[in-house]
Amino acid sequence: MFKKWKEKWKVSWLQFTLIICTFACGGSLCGFVGRKLLSFTSLEKGVVYFIVYIITMSVIWPFCVLLISIPLGQFAFFKNYLQRMANRMTGSKDDTTIMKGDSQENLSTINHPSLTKKRIAIFASGAGSNAAKIIEHLHYSKNIKVSLIVCNKPEAGVLKIAKYNNIEALLIEKEIFFRGDAYVNALKAKDIDFIVLAGFLWKIPAALIQAYPNKIINIHPALLPKYGGKGMYGHFVHEAVIANGEIETGITIHYVNENFDEGKHIFQASCTISKDDTPDTVATKIHQLEHLHFPRVVEEVVLAAE
Ligand code: GAR
Repeated sequence: MFKKWKEKWKVSWLQFTLIICTFACGGSLCGFVGRKLLSFTSLEKGVVYFIVYIITMSVIWPFCVLLISIPLGQFAFFKNYLQRMANRMTGSKDDTTIMKGDSQENLSTINHPSLTKKRIAIFASGAGSNAAKIIEHLHYSKNIKVSLIVCNKPEAGVLKIAKYNNIEALLIEKEIFFRGDAYVNALKAKDIDFIVLAGFLWKIPAALIQAYPNKIINIHPALLPKYGGKGMYGHFVHEAVIANGEIETGITIHYVNENFDEGKHIFQASCTISKDDTPDTVATKIHQLEHLHFPRVVEEVVLAAE
């Protein structure tokens, strides 16, 4: 039952615990304040007292819960929660909009799980051609939205792509990523459901993998398990492939685990290498394969994810 609520609210276990604590403490505070208020009246315990008590409790409960939610850091959740309750009680349609970076999103979509789009974050450190293809592919998707671009390089081309497409961007710092919370709280606060690595070169910390089990995928520009591991990225892969006289190479889309390029494979596609090929021409062939397959595979995997 708890798991169902947690998934419905799209929160981490820590936030879920804090929400339950807020409900419990808010309820107790409400009972205490309600009894105190009634003690100032001359009402005797009986039916009228009981009715007044219930009405008083209903009026002060939202305030008590909101008050408790502040020190527990859950004010935003409860404000939203109470607003939805009020809308449901008054039967009014929820058409409030919330700001998510530069883009706006209709809360009515968030309120009805069946209509909720899965929100993905694309992590990229480079030019972002794959990110651009995924954004383009999912532009009219009814089920998936590219909600965030995460980048570790202020000069990366992918940030321009985010801006052009009006997608919020998050520039991350090494210290927080590897020695802090790996941005788990920030991603959860933005309701990110799934992470796609598209040319992201930092190793993914355990905290992030645990927060998104089987919900982080990566694209690698080689036929893994060959030419994977630390230091094997971009041009280094193509140079190694040519230096070893390979006659084919390709792409691998795989789940991310705690080791570089070792997670379960989802998809592979290959291309031939001729004697005339250089790392640059191989890179072009690889990009063509990536742009052809990655957006579709992302869509399929995200839709299939629980
Ligand atoms: C892509 O070719 C991707 O496979 C590679 O970086 C490139 C990013 O290009 N990723 C790795 O090497 C990860 N080990 P893009 O910025 O144009 O999408």
